[in-house]
Amino acid sequence: MVELEELLAELYPRDRKATAELAARFTTRLAAIRDGRSAELRAWDRSRPADWHTGPSHVAYVAYADLFTQEMEGGPGLVRAVERLDYLADLGVTNLHLLPIFATSGDGGFAIDDYRKVRADLGTMDDLEELARQAHRRGLALTVDFVLNHTSDRHPWALAAKAGDPAKLAYFVPDETGTGRHWPGVPDVFPDFAPGHWDWVPELGKYLWSTFYARQPDKDGPVRNSFSQWDLNYRNPDVLLDMLETMGYLLNRGIDCLRLDAIPFLWKTPGTSCTSQPELHLVLRIIRMMVEAIAPRAVILAEANDQLAGLTEYFGTGPRWGGEAQLAYGFPVMPFVWLAAATGDAEPLMTAITRLPQLPPGCAWLVFDEVHDEVTLDAVEGMFPGPKGLRLARGLFEHFTREGRGIPFRFDPKREAFGHGISSNRWTMLDGETAELAGDAAGVERAIERTALMEAVKQSLGGPALLYSGAELGLASDHRFHEDPVKAPDTRFAKRRPLPRAGLDRLRDPKSKEARIHGLTRELVRIRKSQPAFGPGRAEILATPAASVLGYRRRGPDGADVWCWFQFGDTEATVTVPVTVRDLRSGETFEGGSAIKLGPRSFRWLRSAAGGRCDP
Ligand code: GLC
Repeated sequence: MVELEELLAELYPRDRKATAELAARFTTRLAAIRDGRSAELRAWDRSRPADWHTGPSHVAYVAYADLFTQEMEGGPGLVRAVERLDYLADLGVTNLHLLPIFATSGDGGFAIDDYRKVRADLGTMDDLEELARQAHRRGLALTVDFVLNHTSDRHPWALAAKAGDPAKLAYFVPDETGTGRHWPGVPDVFPDFAPGHWDWVPELGKYLWSTFYARQPDKDGPVRNSFSQWDLNYRNPDVLLDMLETMGYLLNRGIDCLRLDAIPFLWKTPGTSCTSQPELHLVLRIIRMMVEAIAPRAVILAEANDQLAGLTEYFGTGPRWGGEAQLAYGFPVMPFVWLAAATGDAEPLMTAITRLPQLPPGCAWLVFDEVHDEVTLDAVEGMFPGPKGLRLARGLFEHFTREGRGIPFRFDPKREAFGHGISSNRWTMLDGETAELAGDAAGVERAIERTALMEAVKQSLGGPALLYSGAELGLASDHRFHEDPVKAPDTRFAKRRPLPRAGLDRLRDPKSKEARIHGLTRELVRIRKSQPAFGPGRAEILATPAASVLGYRRRGPDGADVWCWFQFGDTEATVTVPVTVRDLRSGETFEGGSAIKLGPRSFRWLRSAAGGRCDP
């Protein structure tokens, strides 16, 4: 209570009495939710290890509930998803992240009309609870998106605001100047199909803040989209309290992890970039306290595409070190894995890994190569400011937007030399699809090797690893999304495809690319889980024989080291390890100091045979 009161006093300065009243209101409403947690979920909480989310067993799988279950028979999406849990458990997945499942107006579900109502085609809240129950029975956690930065303009608050309710208008952020002029320094997230950060609302005769989709970004311009996402006003404590209650409500339906969508944009301060503001960290601390009070084993995942220094703050700093999000996406590393796979140059990836700071206990990077959004290049110039970053980012963009690989995202040719991201699926980006279409067996082989390399980096870097639905089958991009006028302007839809029944059927043929990629994913996940060295902790970079080779050592709490070597280049390389090691995949043993071959586009995970530590 004391900490809550302090945080609220800092966020919403007012006199002591008013702050105490505000804190009491928060406490009373949240206590009611805490008291309403079911006995079944309390037992689940007690059964969970405190480090379930940071240990090597944490393997997450992210999918759209509809696409994941589209090619199945049976009831609504969430009911069908229950049938898919065994498939996930067999792959080794321990956390299913379902992309937004609530009533929505668009943006792949991220424009929410109602946070307490499941989309009709996916089922009901009861179905969600049953899915969580069934997941828990199989040892899987369930993650959902909590889109807290904005609602759709069809959410009841938005409708009330449009109808003239001043209390609900205060839930949003109007442009006081009435001009819709862009605030300098505020990022333009969708420059191509929703430019700027305002949405003209004719019913109000006002502009409201809209970081993402806007129906009509400019009063005098055309209607660009069929819905808007209006940013919520967290300077209004009622907004924070309502959102906390909603999060609590979801935790009590059995949700284990809340992915806090687009969190950097939450707090706006004139004269700043309005991203990652200090107040936002107070909000995050309050969210964390609420989650801990209601569901002590649940965690929060920050979706913050920020540069390394700013991003690290999402775990909490100073006295709140480790007290905010427990998980954050590893944006600072992701583009460099692509860079290594594309060009064979592992050096920038090595640099990125060395710059990752030690995280507070109980916190981890979620390591990923792709999600439902574009592969964003924002981190490249952040990691390497100046000409080097520019060259790398441009190179990546050009490489992956070449015919047959991917499509630009957030690219405004009027203003920019190259775009911020690429929309495409891993298999297509790694030339697997082109090779398949050309009947080029050697090309398919190379793409499988690159897929394995990326998967191996991801699974061994020390954070929970994230699999994007379909990647385990080598699913190619959707080249026909343009045919749907709603999807056409947003190239990210190229990444959003049903998990194909035909692809799953091909798992029965061990020679199919589906079976091979699925098999290697499953194998790497299994090995990862067996090695405590793949748990939290930093990778120690090793001296390497070539710029295309990356090597790091992971130290396990059991005293065993795992030496990870990756050859991204197209030639053979030789590495050595000072102690005797066993290859965790092939079982081969190598004497300390002997030459260990790495084939083109290959990797080795080598465990010190004695199981003992071997300091150099
Ligand atoms: C996040 C989501 C993205 C969405 C945006 C707005 O970045 O991942 O898909 O468009 O937030 O909600």
